[in-house]
Amino acid sequence: MCGIFAYLNYCVPRTRKEIFETLVKGLRRLEYRGYDSAGIAVDGDKKTTTEDNSKIVLIKKKGKVKALDEELYKKDCMDLEVELDTHFGIAHTRWATHGEPSALNSHPQRSDKNNAFVVIHNGIITNYKELKKYLNSKGYEFESETDTEVIPKLIKYVYDNREKEDLSFSTLVERVIQQLEGAFALVFKSHYFPGEAVATRRGSPLLIGVRSKYELSAEHIPIQYNSGLFKEGIEQDKNSHNRPDKPDNSTAVNSVGDGKAVEYYFASDASAIIEHTNKVIYLEDDDIAAVVGGKLSLHRLNSLAGENPVRAIQTLQMELQEIMKGNFEAFMQKEIFEQPESVFNTMRGRICFHTNKVILGGLKDHLKEIKRCRRLIVIGCGTSFHAAVATRQILEELTELPVMVELASDFLDRNTPVFRDDVCFYISQSGETADTLMALRYCKDRGALTVGVTNTVGSSISRDTDCGVHINAGPEIGVASTKAYTSQFVALIMFGLMMSEDRISLQPRRLEIINGLRILPDMIKKVLTLDNKIKSIADELYQQKSLLVMGRGFNYATCLEGALKIKEITYMHSEGILAGELKHGPLALIDKHMPVIMIIMKDACYTKCQNALQQVTARSGRPIILCCQDDQEMSKNAYKTIELPHTVDCLQGILSVIPLQLLSFHLAVLRGYDVDCPRNLAKSVTVE
Ligand code: M6R
Repeated sequence: MCGIFAYLNYCVPRTRKEIFETLVKGLRRLEYRGYDSAGIAVDGDKKTTTEDNSKIVLIKKKGKVKALDEELYKKDCMDLEVELDTHFGIAHTRWATHGEPSALNSHPQRSDKNNAFVVIHNGIITNYKELKKYLNSKGYEFESETDTEVIPKLIKYVYDNREKEDLSFSTLVERVIQQLEGAFALVFKSHYFPGEAVATRRGSPLLIGVRSKYELSAEHIPIQYNSGLFKEGIEQDKNSHNRPDKPDNSTAVNSVGDGKAVEYYFASDASAIIEHTNKVIYLEDDDIAAVVGGKLSLHRLNSLAGENPVRAIQTLQMELQEIMKGNFEAFMQKEIFEQPESVFNTMRGRICFHTNKVILGGLKDHLKEIKRCRRLIVIGCGTSFHAAVATRQILEELTELPVMVELASDFLDRNTPVFRDDVCFYISQSGETADTLMALRYCKDRGALTVGVTNTVGSSISRDTDCGVHINAGPEIGVASTKAYTSQFVALIMFGLMMSEDRISLQPRRLEIINGLRILPDMIKKVLTLDNKIKSIADELYQQKSLLVMGRGFNYATCLEGALKIKEITYMHSEGILAGELKHGPLALIDKHMPVIMIIMKDACYTKCQNALQQVTARSGRPIILCCQDDQEMSKNAYKTIELPHTVDCLQGILSVIPLQLLSFHLAVLRGYDVDCPRNLAKSVTVE
């Protein structure tokens, strides 16, 4: 969804052109999140005003960042070659919620026609109507339909009514956020405070990258884990867990910089910062970060004097190439092909294939409590929910606990009863999905133990849960989730293996699964060699309107996930159907024209799936069957087969989903759609 990027250079001379380039590059890194307009605010050329301040210039555009970029160079009122020793520029990509996509509704939003205060905002202000009414009554006029606009107007109101108080920029911001309800990450710029920046957050992520050629003059304080961050680590392979959420090589600070040359990068997402610096500070809810005279300091909302927060300067482990497309046509394609490595990284340092031990460092301190629980509730949305469906059966088998799988939105709608002795898992690639976060807060309030399974270090879910697992799949940029799904799948299976370590009766099963996991990356490589065949199937199908995907048991989740991938990026109608339900309705759809994919693997459901196949072929259906290699029976009955290597039943879904990921990719390309940025969708769904 929306993306924030801002750049402050202090005593580091940059031409205005360089500043534009940095801001635009930051926005480009955030494009994958989904957006429909973009804008920036920079200082204009010096004006002779009474206060001798530079007037802030706003440039906003509906559509792509590219269009904004072109617009920047049309502003002949600004000298691009002028060098600015100290400057603060802010930039934003907006995904419309309140008001249509338009230049006026895009951010930065402003306080008044003079652009005295400008603000970029991620999230939603839920009490904006009340605030707007109040500000209207005080004579402030609104120009956009956004909830955000109340924020710059409110700060101007506080500023205009400060009487004789000499309020700092951060105090003004503090007074504003005291009035705000809802979720936000905010960055403020003002012509009253040139060269200064203020940023804050509540319920929406925000981090600050710091770059300086000087040793950062941060106050050194013995480091502790930030509360809520997963404490990863494993006995047999400590080094492989040198991860950014384990800030053992970091410095805890409440201020940075001491007037020497320094650059700060503010962003809602680490991928916009990594090419500039790997030193970052993640803000926590109600932190207020202010840069004055090149010095960054942190304050807490409503804190008493002297009570300043201590945050770790963490070292991002992300590599620039991880967020570049390389030779692939799209990020989604790259991410599909990364799966041999991404599932390996999920297991790395956590499974010892010599001793058959599985240790998830972020869970081990809570294992006893988890084993005593009444039930496991696994909650997520979209693909993350499907990972829960995919692993439910094996989790029930390995943990011997009842496992409920829940769509976060429905779970909340039902006011589902949750108890202190429940253990609730939150599966989320981004770690920021609003519905999943709300479900987390709901269960926390009821005293359940909360466990996060996320791919995003420093995300709200990884912070707010009691413990958890990072899936380590690496950045996933394509809106359609692919490698995160297979890594979530593997992470949940590892949890089951860890829970069953002392169950003698389960040892043969555990061994079988661990052996399957050991060779899983190679199996995935084999599946990926089917790409050409799948492309030729896509050539046949891409003009169809509909596509049904059927299966059952361990492969039912693959049907749901495959159908979601297809509808999400190809805009074809697609449905994942439980084969056992066929005769209860969906069979009516079958005729020789309806494209059907069936997943029939040699597992406990094989015979039942064959029955479903008969029902389909008896209605002249012409199924494409995903089946095990050399299954003659399937070749006889199928219109076409896609033969997959055979693995342990509970891991087969990891292999069977890949052809469907590839198929959806090829279908979308053939239909001429933007694979990575499907219409109406966002990577990180931060609104309910
Ligand atoms: O970041 P999350 O895993 O919490 O996101 C949940 C869903 O929005 C997400 O999985 C969505 O369904 C995918 N774009 C599907 O490919």
